Amino acid sequence: MKTDFLVIGSGIAGLTYALKIANACPDKTITILTKTQSDETNTKYAQGGIAGVMDFSQDSFTKHIKDTLIAGDGLCDEQIVEIVVKEGVDRINEIIQWGARFDKDSGGDYKLGKEGGHSESRILHHKDVTGKEMERALLEAVQKVKNISIINHCFVLDLITQHHLGYLVTKSTPDIECYGVYVLNLNTGKIEKIVSKITLLASGGNGQVYRTTTNPSIATGDGVAMVYRAKGRIENMEFIQFHPTALYEAGVRGHSFLVTEAVRGDGAILRNHQGEAFMARYDERKDLAPRDIVARAIDNEMKINGTEFIYLDCRHMDLNKFREHFPNIYQKCLSIGVDVSKDMIPVAPAAHYSCGGVKTDEWGKTSIRNLFATGECASTGLHGSNRLASNSLLEAMVFSHRSFLASVKLIEEITFNENIPDWNAAGTTAPNEMILITQSLKELKLLMSDYVGIVRNNERLKRANRRLDLLHEETEALYQKTVVSPQLCELRNMITVAYLIVKSAELRKESRGLHYNTDFPRKVNIIQNTIL
Ligand code: FAD
Ligand code: SIN
Repeated sequence: MKTDFLVIGSGIAGLTYALKIANACPDKTITILTKTQSDETNTKYAQGGIAGVMDFSQDSFTKHIKDTLIAGDGLCDEQIVEIVVKEGVDRINEIIQWGARFDKDSGGDYKLGKEGGHSESRILHHKDVTGKEMERALLEAVQKVKNISIINHCFVLDLITQHHLGYLVTKSTPDIECYGVYVLNLNTGKIEKIVSKITLLASGGNGQVYRTTTNPSIATGDGVAMVYRAKGRIENMEFIQFHPTALYEAGVRGHSFLVTEAVRGDGAILRNHQGEAFMARYDERKDLAPRDIVARAIDNEMKINGTEFIYLDCRHMDLNKFREHFPNIYQKCLSIGVDVSKDMIPVAPAAHYSCGGVKTDEWGKTSIRNLFATGECASTGLHGSNRLASNSLLEAMVFSHRSFLASVKLIEEITFNENIPDWNAAGTTAPNEMILITQSLKELKLLMSDYVGIVRNNERLKRANRRLDLLHEETEALYQKTVVSPQLCELRNMITVAYLIVKSAELRKESRGLHYNTDFPRKVNIIQNTIL
């Protein structure tokens, strides 16, 4: 199969890019690939909303820029921050024109929410299901366009580069080029090649590397692992953001339900098992401090008290307003026997967002020619060592727009590569038993959660590395002799991503933002005698 533009992923990043290309280039073909259904994305689960300066009477670009830089703890690229904050407003207006609806007050003005690290209320939202609304609007817009085809259940295995033409490709090879991808088409059960002129990687995050995560099961870091195998540049993988408040349900692992930070923005208070509103001991911004600080404080409280969760107290809040803003959370809590007007919500931190990823420039270009990356799989320099809440959807739209501009300029210079060989499956047989995959996955998630979580140290990282080596060796051996399946490929990708997280964490000889190593303690964010 051949396509002018190939888009890997149907979340906000992929759909925004595809729509723009389709409108600008009606004579070109655009193919979107997605590994399950088209709406099963991290995007669909976004709750709090999208940050943007919409009310210039209170807010300003300068304030949003400053908040992003403070949250990023000294590692943001200031030029990129300025680009995202300033261009973001036009992108928000665009998605509104495409049909996304954000909540308004009775006067017709947008209701702007507040989240941790924001000095002003600037979060546009659609109740507590903002991502679902944005995904709906984008998918509906895409369906109206003739030159876009979406192929669901089509698992991308690898990027095709000179390596597949028989050349030796290393990290120092200049001009590595992407010619398309090999996919396992689950509709046909066959491995196919899709040749493209330009490819956009919009494959999302990697939360599934951890035992408990707010991310759905698709978030296995496939894009980052593919680029790493193709010898492209990856950066900042140590900065994994743990969301402070995932709903704690005894025995529930894997995909945890999120309780958006906007609940704290509306006044909810974190309490420990003694009922103490403990955040005042950790940061003067209390419950609305940036996420890294709140998640670490919760982790510390849970360790001191020997508990698996703490509480989010909403009992003092106006119930009608709560139900209006957070109907989904209200219902979810009720379904597990928690009435937010009488009971506190049990919550615990969970892996949420990958700040690092495939390194891109200000136009979304990766180190591999004709390969762009946007959205959560990319590392643009916006987030530094800790992402400011609700900046992710904004970043995805800004860089998908910029990648679109750069792609349109480039497309006429590129021709299809006609010499791509078929996938080589020689010597592989159907797997005998799935236990070899499922057990390794359990081990991987456990070791990442216990050794490479919110708080790390050198010994834990060393142990994680040694165990990952073994998992890598066993899984590669299995991969060489087995007919590929999504489960096996995801395990292999997650081991690669875990390795990149651990390696990057070992290389960073300091504690900064989301990366906290007790062997390199820092002197800030410690109030009274609580040691983080
Ligand atoms: P995704 O939306 O995750 O899409 C990834 C796509 O890639 C999917 O279509 C998937 O099928 C496809 N894919 C992946 N691997 C393969 C493969 N091997 N083959 C084929 N297809 C593949 N951010 C905010 O700014 N505000 C919020 O309020 C907010 N709330 C959040 C709440 C939750 C619970 C979560 C999980 C995240 C939240 N985030 C929020 C973060 C934000 O939602 C994500 O970072 C963003 O949606 C990522 O979009 P994306 O397009 O990059 O990837
Ligand atoms: C949330 O709603 O708390 C998540 C927001 C985000 O991840 O940016």
